[in-house]
Amino acid sequence: MVKIGYFQFAPVFGGIEENLNTIISRLKDIDADLIVLPELPFTGYGFSDREELLSLAEDPEKSGTVSALVKLCSANGFHLVTGFAEKAGEKCYNSALLLGPAGIEGRYRKLHLFDREKTYFDPGDLPLDVFDMDGISIGMMVCFDWIFPEVARTLALRGADILCHPANLVLGYCQQTMLSRCTENLVYAVTANRTGSESHSFGTLDFTGTSQVVAPAGRIIHRSGKEIEEVLVVEVDILQSRNKCITERNDVLSDRRPEFYQ
Ligand code: ACM
Repeated sequence: MVKIGYFQFAPVFGGIEENLNTIISRLKDIDADLIVLPELPFTGYGFSDREELLSLAEDPEKSGTVSALVKLCSANGFHLVTGFAEKAGEKCYNSALLLGPAGIEGRYRKLHLFDREKTYFDPGDLPLDVFDMDGISIGMMVCFDWIFPEVARTLALRGADILCHPANLVLGYCQQTMLSRCTENLVYAVTANRTGSESHSFGTLDFTGTSQVVAPAGRIIHRSGKEIEEVLVVEVDILQSRNKCITERNDVLSDRRPEFYQ
């Protein structure tokens, strides 16, 4: 059995140190193998422009935030998947990082930017792939990627056992849709969404909380409230995401007919 979960909370816009301290204080005594954090949990979400984003984004290899999280992973013997505003030379990505005691063990750059994100982030440029976490295959996707079924499917075809899904959702129908992503791919999914709101010159953003852990076949193991802060950990049997059979004669991955999907 593997202990997986998330931390749902309301990051403070621009409060990198405060947000980091909140995360460390809530997770330091938690017994888990893998915890997923929301999208952009250090910087907050609603940048005015690229200049503001660049003033808050960090190069993960030189980031004190990442170093502190790796230390937390070492002390607790767990892994984290976290959203991260990633500076990479002249580029800036809305990324997810897999962090463990050994450091940065995986990286994903959001492929499908949402709304105003297109005006300040660069679109992801890495292929969808999975990363090993002590024999468990981790796939990462970020928020709006949920509306493209190709993302979850590609990760499942690459062998993902768990879809780790940092989010800052403002639309209300992702959580229900993720049940379908888990059903059609027979994988676990952890959607770690944020709560609260941000007020900016361009408007107010209200985030929808209701983070969740979903089992293969779309069963909700746990779903949080819309507004509460919560650390949630559940035990799951990873073998359930490795059996792709719906009936004795149907396997959701090998029954595909890609030659007819062109
Ligand atoms: C989103 O992709 N943050 C809605």
